[in-house]
Amino acid sequence: MTRNAPAPHFIQTHLSNPAAVRAELEAGLLATPAHVSPKYFYDALGSRLFDAITELPEYYPTRTEAAIFGRHGAEMAAHLPAGALLVDLGAGSCAKAASLFPELQPAGYVAVDISVDYLRDALGQLQQRHPALPMLGLGMDFSTTLQFGDAVGRWLSDHRLHSAPRTVFYPGSSIGNFIPAQAVEVLEPAYDDALGVTAAFNRNLLLNVNRWMGSNFQPVLWRHVAHFNAAESRIEMHLEALQDQTVVWEGGQRRFVAGERMHTENSCKWTPASFETLLEQAGWRDVRRWTDKHGWFGVFAARA
Ligand code: AVJ
Repeated sequence: MTRNAPAPHFIQTHLSNPAAVRAELEAGLLATPAHVSPKYFYDALGSRLFDAITELPEYYPTRTEAAIFGRHGAEMAAHLPAGALLVDLGAGSCAKAASLFPELQPAGYVAVDISVDYLRDALGQLQQRHPALPMLGLGMDFSTTLQFGDAVGRWLSDHRLHSAPRTVFYPGSSIGNFIPAQAVEVLEPAYDDALGVTAAFNRNLLLNVNRWMGSNFQPVLWRHVAHFNAAESRIEMHLEALQDQTVVWEGGQRRFVAGERMHTENSCKWTPASFETLLEQAGWRDVRRWTDKHGWFGVFAARA
């Protein structure tokens, strides 16, 4: 193993506009019911808590998906262009994409994540293992834009990757194939594990909000709630106030009464058919699908 590969190039746009972040958070905190986008789970601790979640016995998606990659990786690679630029949206630890490098043989790797410090570390370590593969870290919020900007364009040109075919890798978004009764039995524990790791992950969002807003949320005053909304086919995560309280920040405040909930995440569970329809409506074509033996999780490939 080479230990002297240079650190990957890194472009950070996410932390460049704290006023916009605060405005977005404040709008959600003042809404009824209050809500905070799940992207605020992912500070450095939150990214590590998510990695811990993927190790839990109850949390089936990551290991189910890994089994699909292991079993069908070669077939997936055969369906995808060779020598592509692999763009990983929400790369996190970069482990999933890295597990596919041997089959996909990408010509370059662009890892995108909102959790900038965590991504920087993960990508630095990955570059040591693949010193010859051009790697770019992009600390950005891809929920607001998928335009990568001029700095990325220059990096692509410098590495002769400008006209390489692009494979966009967007794993982890679970596609459950459930009827509601089964879904509740499998899904709710996956989002409310016995050890309380998911509860910690959910409540850590309050600490991240405090850092951005200068607010005084106290995690001990909030309870983790996860339930399957069958009508919308999604797991919803909420934080429920355990007692009446007023949360203050510079320029604002919000009163919460005991039992009031703040919505922190929807995790939509698609059926294979409903997800294929979604892809086709969005203009993707040539849709392929690989699933595990229970049909709990699906990996899709489609052409733009
Ligand atoms: C990273 C969005 C795929 O929805 O399963 C895990 C996040 N939330 N446990 C998911 C999550 C609670 C995860 N995703």
